[in-house]
Parts: sequence; structure tokens; C-alpha cells
Amino acid sequence: MTGRDTATIPADALTADEAAGELARLAAEIARHDRLYHQSDAPEIADADYDALVRRNAAIEDLHPGLVRIDSPSVRVGAPAASGFGKVTHAVPMLSLANAFTAEDVAEFVGRVRSFLRLPPDGTVAIVAEPKIDGLSLSLRYEDGRLVQAATRGDGAVGEDVTANVMTIADVPKRLAAGAPRVLEVRGEVHMTRADFFRLNADLAARGEKTLANPRNGAAGSLRQLDATITAGRPLRFFGYAWGELSEPLGSTQWESRNRLADLGFVVPTDARLCASAEELVAYHAEIGGRRAEIPFDIDGVVYKVDRLDWQQRLGFRDRTPRWATAHKFSAEQAETVLDDILVSVGRTGTMNPVAVLRPVTVGGVVVSRATLHNEDEVARKDVRKGDHVIVQRAGDVIPQVVGVVLAKRPDGAVPWEPPHVCPCPLMTPTTREPGAAARRCTGELRCPFQQIERLVHFVSRNAADIDGLGEKQVRAFFEDGAIRTPADIFRLAAKNRTEWALNPLETRKGWGETSVAKLFAAIEARRRLELNRFIFALGIRQVGEATAKLLARHYETADRWIAQMRKAAEERAALPEATRPDQVGEAYAELCAIEQIGMSVADDVVLFFGEPHSLDALRRLQDEITDIVPFVRPAAAASPVAGRTVVFTGTFAGMSRDEAKVGAEAAGAKVAGSVSKKTDYVVVGEDAGSKATKARELGVRILTEAEWLDRLAGRIA
Ligand code: IVH
Repeated sequence: MTGRDTATIPADALTADEAAGELARLAAEIARHDRLYHQSDAPEIADADYDALVRRNAAIEDLHPGLVRIDSPSVRVGAPAASGFGKVTHAVPMLSLANAFTAEDVAEFVGRVRSFLRLPPDGTVAIVAEPKIDGLSLSLRYEDGRLVQAATRGDGAVGEDVTANVMTIADVPKRLAAGAPRVLEVRGEVHMTRADFFRLNADLAARGEKTLANPRNGAAGSLRQLDATITAGRPLRFFGYAWGELSEPLGSTQWESRNRLADLGFVVPTDARLCASAEELVAYHAEIGGRRAEIPFDIDGVVYKVDRLDWQQRLGFRDRTPRWATAHKFSAEQAETVLDDILVSVGRTGTMNPVAVLRPVTVGGVVVSRATLHNEDEVARKDVRKGDHVIVQRAGDVIPQVVGVVLAKRPDGAVPWEPPHVCPCPLMTPTTREPGAAARRCTGELRCPFQQIERLVHFVSRNAADIDGLGEKQVRAFFEDGAIRTPADIFRLAAKNRTEWALNPLETRKGWGETSVAKLFAAIEARRRLELNRFIFALGIRQVGEATAKLLARHYETADRWIAQMRKAAEERAALPEATRPDQVGEAYAELCAIEQIGMSVADDVVLFFGEPHSLDALRRLQDEITDIVPFVRPAAAASPVAGRTVVFTGTFAGMSRDEAKVGAEAAGAKVAGSVSKKTDYVVVGEDAGSKATKARELGVRILTEAEWLDRLAGRIA
């Protein structure tokens, strides 16, 4: 930090760091004035001063195109009616819930809570159970008791600003009862009762307008109207059931907080109950399930939340779901229909995925005409044949599935399905199924155009590079044009549009216009800066999902180090393909396998990627475009004495489970490894520690007791 007051420095005299800070400040400041002007009718500054802020933002962005923010005013500009909703970065991410389907799953959930917290077997865990409303989640931000912003969930980190529309929902308090926390983000569900939904559809039909598939779509469609006066005419309701940022707690338990929300003026889900055991939870689920038809709004299950908030705090989150809560879904809705055909879709890694083509049928309020058949073993196991009557099931937002065949109705002459021996792509390369593999794959590897398209679709998808305006349809079209082949090409589209396509620019093509093209290019530009974990995930390496990508980012910290180490590991592995233990292969490879939850199977897929000249080339070209791969930031890195240290836990601890130990260490910025090596800083030993403690002694690695570790963690010992 230079300590200069950057707000007064001319745009062209700012350093890159200062520019990034200024863009952040301007985004927030301009958004605040937008809210004051549009929603509160109470502008604080003159129009000319507002315009000056917008111009300064644009000038800095022109000088630093790599720093354009996702919530930049330049991305959001224009009247909302033309360009959609603004983006809102949630102060606390909006997460989703893990699912339980059976009584065993519920018992396991409670068991995991107990073991994570290391609770004695006889102690009770109080858990709040309430209906799971099938609507769409919303975050309401209150400051000083006034509703200042409403945002949809979006990808959990960034949602859409729907404040103007939410202002029209009667259930949503615009001002809170006295004594509300100064900052309060209430999370809950926007929904519509079934009765209101049917009335709305009748009205729409009478006016010759498009009707809505179900109450959930009704609620979503009504909320996302660009014209708030339309939303105002829709029968939307809101239940509050959780919270994000808070300036002070609402209570010490979930139950107390729920009551507090009600006192503050929110409608909370009806029929909640405080339960004391897995059995009580399961009984609650059965009872609510039995009354589902009487409940006036759609529910798709029940939600369980650990009551004590200090326990919720300790339990924390895993990836995108809390450990302290779970959804217990109702069994899926089913319907019978005819299977007309079985097609194969090619997955991102070349897998042949059989897909059922169905006579359209309504399942749980949604028309289904395709369903997944997973893989060829599934088709064989269920013996699904062309022409069969099949049972199709759909649960929540899960892809519809074929559950089984109605054998009594099988037509004469129906023959078993044969998996394809060639890829359906234009290259028609043979497919193979390796021994032990779940799926048949196209052998065209990176040459297969279908795989290339899937990989590009994956690259731009929401949890990867997240490029708005570039969906499957657009990717396919650009691919067929030859405009994009690998992700790097996406970043050259704007230049291409100015040069090669000058006579026939994108703006003039079908499906595009000035605004949509400008927005697309802005969205692409914004991704020249990308977090390392997203970057890794976006590459689409086999077995490297979001969670693994995060583990890799956390371990290697920077793109340069990750790539260098992966190339080294790939070389080591290529030299010793037969080795069966990581340490036989080499140091870089062993380091990769030592990351907890990464084994040789994942490591082999990663090094396979780094051994392919094709992927290395695509990677290099991508690095030329994504100029700012944001290193993984360790939480509280500077503050904690264990930050950056590598620690191994072994044995049983007295006050915490191994999981809690690990989560606590990571939260303090330490790396947790699964095995001891020379690079290990500490081995924390509990009771009955075995070979890892011995290994630590052999290597001279520092051994700590549980208490010694906790002292370091708390900063009592540096
Ligand atoms: S609590 C950390 N309670 O279900 C997440 N969620 O499948 C806390 N939902 O994203 C969520 N009813 O949109 C909670 N009573 C309820 C709910 C509920 C519906 C939704 C919510 C969430 C999704 C997860």
C-alpha cells in the first residue's frame, strides 16, 4: 500500500493495485447512488457529479482492461429494462444444502454432526426441522432497519439485483421493527401458493399469454420481470428462514433466531419443530409428507438445522453446503411414458452417455421429453429397449431419470440396446471401454469435435469461467463457424469482430444486437482475471471437479507453481508408468498425491492432461489471455502463526474430531497433508497415533500434542 488517497489521483497516474482498489470503490459508490436515485428517490449528488464517477470508472477500465469487475457499472449500465439486472456480490455466500433421501441418510447426518463435534453418545443434539419450500431463494439486506437491497442467489457468490421487484412483495418488510440489528441480511424463499398460481395461469390464459409450468416457475418468472409493475401484480410471498451478514446475532440458537425473525416482521415457515433425535426427524418428515397436499404451497422435502449456533459455527461448511444442515427430500414424482429412442451424447471427457428420447409426459408439473440413462451398464441392467413403456422420475431440479421398464407392455420384437461402436461425431472415431471403467469413451480424444464443444461449454459455465451471454447454443454456433476452438479463442472474439468480421459483425447477426454483443464482450473481458481454483476447474481435467480444483489451488497457491509442478509430475509419471506407489514415481508426483483426498487415480488424470501436447498448447494460449490468475488466498494468512505451515494430524484427539482439526487448521491458513514428508512442519499426535508419528520422528519433523497445537492456533505460541 502506498497510502495515497487514490480517489484524487488522475486515472492514468494510478498503479495497477491502486486502480483495482479504485474500481472497487467506484463500483460500490455508483451502485449506492443508483439505489438512492432509483429506489429511494433521494439522490445525494448532482447528476453531473454522478456522470463524473461513471466516466472515471470507464477511464480506469480502458487503461486496465484486465481489472474490469463483474459488478462494474460499465457492465451494468443502461436502463434496467434493456440490459437486465445488476449483479450483487453477496457479503456472505448463499449456499445450498446436501440431500438426504432415506432414514439411514438422516441417521448418518446426525451421526456426522456428533462425530465432528465429538459429542458423548448420550448427549442430545437438538435439531430444528421445517418444510423445504420449493421456490427460489432470495437475500434481503437491511441497513439501519431499512430494506436497501434484494438479490437472487445466482451462483451463490454473485446474484442479481431484484430490489425494485422485491419492493412490491407485501410479505417483505420494507422497514423493520425497532431494535433490529444495524446490518441484517435475511435469507428466504420467494414462492406462490398453488391456489394463487392456478388463478394467475387462468388470467394469463384468458389474456392469451404464455402460462407457467408450476408455482416455482411462476414465482421465478414473476420475480425476474424487468418491469417491476408486472411483478407488483403477481401474488408473490416470502418466508424468511436463514441469514447472511449480521451486525449482531439474532439469538444463540436457530429456534431463537427464527422467533426473532418473526418478531422483526418476517413470515417464517409454518409447521417447524424442534426435534431431539434422528427418529424424531424421520417421523416429522413422514408427517409433513402425509400433509403435503393440505399445505397451500409446494414443498419438496424438509430441512434439518442443528439448533445451537455455536455448534453451527464449529461445524462450518464443506464446499457449498453447511455441515450443520441437510435437506430431507420427498420421494420423486414418477410417470409412465413410451421410450421412442436411445441417443448417445458425448461428454466433456469423451464418455458415451445414453439418453432416452421420450414421448413428452408431465412429471411433477414439468414436461419431460429426455431422461438420462447414465451409462451402458445401467441400460443393460434395466434392460431398457426402444419402444418400451418406461417409468420416468424427476426430483427437484435433478435431471429426469428412467427408473425402469413396464415389462408387461414390451412390444414384440424389441431388441436389447447395443452401445455405439463409433462416436456419433462427424469423425466417427471408434469407442472403447477400458477394463474397470464405468463408461465407454470416444478414442478421438481432443480431436473429437463433440468433446471440444463440451469442453468449451464447461469452460464458460457458471462455476468455471462463468461467462454470461455465452451458453451452449452460442458456443456451438461459434465452434461451427470456426471462430472458437479452444478457450483462448473466446478472448479473441472482440478483436475478430473488429477485424475479420468487420463487414459482417456479430451485432448484425441473427440473435445478436448492439447491447447483447457489448455485454458479451464486457463479460469476456472481465474474465481476464480469474481465481486460480476456477481456472483449474475450467480446464475440464478428468476427475477434477470444483472441490478438487480448490484443493489444488489451496496447495499450490499460484498458477505458475501449479503448472510447473504438474509438468514435473507428468514427466516423472511418464518415466515410471508401472509404479504403484507415489513415492516411487518422484517428488512432484508424490507431493500431488499427498494432498488429502487426492489419490493416484486423480493424480494420473491430472498428469495425463499435462502430458498431452494438445492440452499444454491450449493451456499456454489461455495463459496469454487470462493475464491475472488470482492466487489462492489463505484466510487470515498474515495473522496466524501457523499460516503457510504444513500439518499432519494423526490419532484420536480429546476435544475435537480429526475433521474439525483439519477445518480449523485450514481456516488459520495452514495446509493439511495426509502423509508425513520432509516438507511437513508439524505432526499433531493424538491418542493411538501410529506410523505417521514414527515417520515424523525418523524425519525429525516437529511433533506436537493436541494442546500444543491449539496454543499455536490461538496464537499463544508463535
Ligand atoms: S436453510 C445454508 N431452510 O433449499 C443454506 N433452505 O436446496 C441454508 N430452502 O438454497 C438454507 N426451504 O433456497 C433453508 N426452510 C428452509 C428452506 C430452504 C427452502 C431452499 C434454499 C436452499 C435450498 C437448498
